[in-house]
This record gives sequence, structure tokens and C-alpha cells, in this order.
Amino acid sequence: MNRVKKITCIGAGYVGGPTMSVIAQKNPDVEVTVVDMNQARIAAWNNDDLSQLPIYEPGLDAVVGAARGRNLFFSTDVDKAIQEADMIFISVNTPTKTYGKGKGQAADLKFIELCARQIAEVASTDKIVVEKSTLPVRTAEALKSILDNTGNGVNFHILSNPEFLAEGTAVSDLHNPDRVLIGGESAEAIEALVQVYEAWVPRERIITTNLWSSELSKLVANAFLAQRVSSINAISELCEVTGANVDEVSRAIGQDSRIGSKFLKASVGFGGSCFQKDILNLVYIARSYNLYEVANYWEQVILLNDHQKTRFAEKIIKTMYNTVNGKDIAFLGWAFKKDTNDTRESAAIHVADHLLDEEAHVIVYDPKVTAEQVYRDLDYLGTRSPEDNRRLVKVVNDPYEALDSAHAVAVLTEWDEFKTYDWAKVKAGMKRPSFVFDGRKLLNRKQLEELGFDYYAIGE
Ligand code: NAD
Ligand code: UDX
Repeated sequence: MNRVKKITCIGAGYVGGPTMSVIAQKNPDVEVTVVDMNQARIAAWNNDDLSQLPIYEPGLDAVVGAARGRNLFFSTDVDKAIQEADMIFISVNTPTKTYGKGKGQAADLKFIELCARQIAEVASTDKIVVEKSTLPVRTAEALKSILDNTGNGVNFHILSNPEFLAEGTAVSDLHNPDRVLIGGESAEAIEALVQVYEAWVPRERIITTNLWSSELSKLVANAFLAQRVSSINAISELCEVTGANVDEVSRAIGQDSRIGSKFLKASVGFGGSCFQKDILNLVYIARSYNLYEVANYWEQVILLNDHQKTRFAEKIIKTMYNTVNGKDIAFLGWAFKKDTNDTRESAAIHVADHLLDEEAHVIVYDPKVTAEQVYRDLDYLGTRSPEDNRRLVKVVNDPYEALDSAHAVAVLTEWDEFKTYDWAKVKAGMKRPSFVFDGRKLLNRKQLEELGFDYYAIGE
């Protein structure tokens, strides 16, 4: 097969945008067009001011700046981009279903199917269609059926090429991936995609498998990563009642090369758009094959994570004399992890919701998350009216405005800047006793206790 000359990606989100920007950066001879039906998002990708890209990722502005207008384009003209491409990535969202069969567990594939139907309708030349979205195992079968049955008689080859980047480190993950995974049936189509990645990824790091192994490996990778976080979070609770320190336990077990040291940081609970969604999907798939023990095993990872978030909120309430009614609680961080403006499934949302049920006043500061987003996240839960969310929650642009005169501080995201605050000044302004609840084990216990704070950290 000839080298691919034109690539289109449907979906200009957290995955499609950065992934295609790096492919364009590293393959200057390939024209890459990223399309989306969301006009505002495409306009933001085309913004001359690179600080206004629709997603925040360290280093992304430079990559986009180098390739955009040269061989990287962002557009809302989906049909034209499909028509012209040799290879089409589908990188649309695959959220958990909120209705019908599989509600609350199965992946909603309506956006994927719409893409397949549009490709079939428009394409008048052969295409390689690449699944970039995370999908249930055997989705390629359904895609192939739609493409072949509704298309114009052209040939479609389907590949699975799941994405393993993590938000906040997307650009470095893409530049230096542990591996690239490509599943497919056609050796020629696989080779065409291998060539794209070979522009910067060593061949031995490009793994090729059959379609089903590739689709399933993505769900399994996320399940294993999330399982490590839930495992160490389970141990954090045991540490709190036994006098062990979870960081010390992590270090002690992580030195064992069979266990490894990464992803053993106890926290207020994992968030993000992927872990929960993908495990729920895995659980749903296992149940649909009547594999109940398998399903129950993986479901426990989610249940433990829910417990961790609830337990943190309850610790705050209990420590503050069993009532937070009318008390100001400063939230440091709202994003699901540092270095991103993404708040999907962030633990902060659930902790806030719990405290708001108790009529606490929550004052949020996050360096990258807007007030509109905070209110959108809370309104989406539907726990109380939008008016009540605005009455009880304030979002500020200056951290000291959140901290000044607060009864308590809760650290929800591990932003580095929180460590550098003038904690003596914070202490002087806060109510007494001055509580700090560190859901990320970010701050310095010794320093804060010397300043007179009542300091609580997960797992100590
Ligand atoms: P996202 O919601 O940020 O972006 C998806 C985009 O697709 C949206 O902008 C939406 O408007 C667009 N879209 C949906 N249907 C469309 C259609 N028919 N035509 C044109 N545009 C359409 O989602 P994301 O975070 O980029 O995730 C995309 C996929 O990648 C998901 O399956 C996700 O599970 C997977 N994934 C995400 C991450 C991550 O860190 N976010 C990492 C690995 C894999
Ligand atoms: C994850 C996977 O890492 C990535 O490979 C996949 O492509 C998408 O899903 P992401 O959700 O962006 O990436 O971030 P990740 O770094 O995995 O963190 C997920 C959540 O787990 C965050 O809330 C993070 O704070 C939490 N976490 C992570 C911990 O609490 N402790 C850890 O040790 C690691």
C-alpha cells in the first residue's frame, strides 16, 4: 500500500486534537485535517492566540503552532475531509449510556455509529478507518457491517489504534509512548498506519495484534491502572487506623520490581473521563457473557473509589464537629488532576456535592477551571437547583480570596502552586481552629502543624 498522504480525524477533543497535532508535526508530508461538528471548538483550535486552544496541555501550543496552516487543519466540513482522506481516525466521545439497556454501564456508541454512516455515505474511494476512541471489544465488527452495507461499494479496512495518553502529559506521552498498539486484519492497512507512527516511534514499540486484542487491551490497561489506585486507596484507610503511613507503604512495596512504583499515590479518588467509564464498560461486557465473578471483581474498583470520595467528605464533616452548615470550606483544585482544565468525573465534584448537602459554603479556586465549568458540573448532578448551587458555591480567581477567613481548606487537585502559598499568611486569615484536609498528600505536614493548622492527610 502507498504511503498515506491525507489523514482526517473526526473528533477534535482531548484525544483527537493533541494526537493529530503530533502526527502532523512528525509527518510534515502528510496533510492532517481534524473535523468536529462543534463549531466553537474548531474556532478555538484555529485561534491565532495559542493560549486560547480549547484544551490546556503543557507544550501543545508549540506543537499546534508549528504545524497548523502547514499540514494541520481544523475544520467543520466533515464531508469534505472524509471525501479527501486515505485514512480516517474516529476519535469521538464514547460516554457511559444514560438511557435504555445498559444505562449507567455500557458505552454509548451512537456517536461512533453516526460517524460510520457518514463515512459510508460520503466515501467514493477506498479508506482505512481507524478506531481511536475507546470501544467495547468487537465494535469493529459492527463498524464493518455498517460501512459495507450502507457504503458505495468502496473498500474499507478497519484498524483499532487505542490511545494511551494521559491528560496533563499528553504531548510528552505522544512524543515518547511506551507503545503504540495497532490491531487489524489487513497487513497492508496495518503497515500504512505503522509508517505514520514510525516517523518518530521506534518500530519495536509498535505492537500489532488482531482487532479484538487491541480493542480489549485498551479497556484492560485502564482497568489495571485504576485498580492500582483503588488498591492503594483501600490501604490508605487501613493506614489511618493502624498508624502506618501510606506513602511509606507505597515506597516499600513499589521498590519490588514485580510491583513497580508508579500509580501508587493514595488520593481522594481517581477521576477523569476514562477510568470509571471504561471499567463500567468492562463490567457490562463481562456480565453480557454471563461472567459474573469477572464482572464483580472489576466493579469493586469503582465501588472502592466511590467509598474513598465519600469517606473524605465525611472526614471533613466529622472533624468539624459534625456540622459544616454555613461554614466556608476553601477548595484548592477542581480539575481531576493537575496540569489540565478537564473536570470530568473529578473527585472534587462529588466531595463538594456531599458537603453542599450539609449546607456548607464551598469556595473554589483552580488555576485552569472556569466558574462556568464548576457550576455546570454541579448542575449536571441534579442534586439541587442551579440557584442553590450558586448560593452555596463561589468560584474565585485569587487563591487567597478562597482561603481568607475560611474554616477549612480541602486540597482536591495536586497543582504544584498550592505548595508555594504563603501558609503563614493563610493561617493568619483563617478561622480557628484552622483545618486542612489534604486529599492529595501534597502539603508539608510539619510546616503546617508548626504554623498551628489542624492537618489531616489521606492515609496518615
Ligand atoms: P471529547 O468529548 O473531548 O471529544 C470528542 C469530540 O467528538 C467532541 O468535540 C464532539 O463534538 C466530537 N463529535 C462527536 N460526534 C461527532 C460526529 N458525529 N461528527 C463530528 N464530531 C463529533 O472526547 P475525548 O476525551 O477526546 O475522548 C475521545 C475518545 O478517546 C473516547 O472514546 C475516550 O474514551 C478515548 N480516550 C480518551 C482519553 C482522554 O484522556 N480523554 C484518553 C484515551 C482515550
Ligand atoms: C488515564 C490513563 O492513564 C491513560 O493511559 C488513558 O489513555 C486515559 O486514562 P488520565 O485519566 O488522563 O489517563 O490520567 P491519569 O494520570 O491516569 O489519572 C487518572 C486519575 O487517577 C486522576 O484523578 C489521578 O489523580 C488519579 N491517580 C493517578 C491517583 O489518584 N493516584 C495515582 O497514583 C495515579
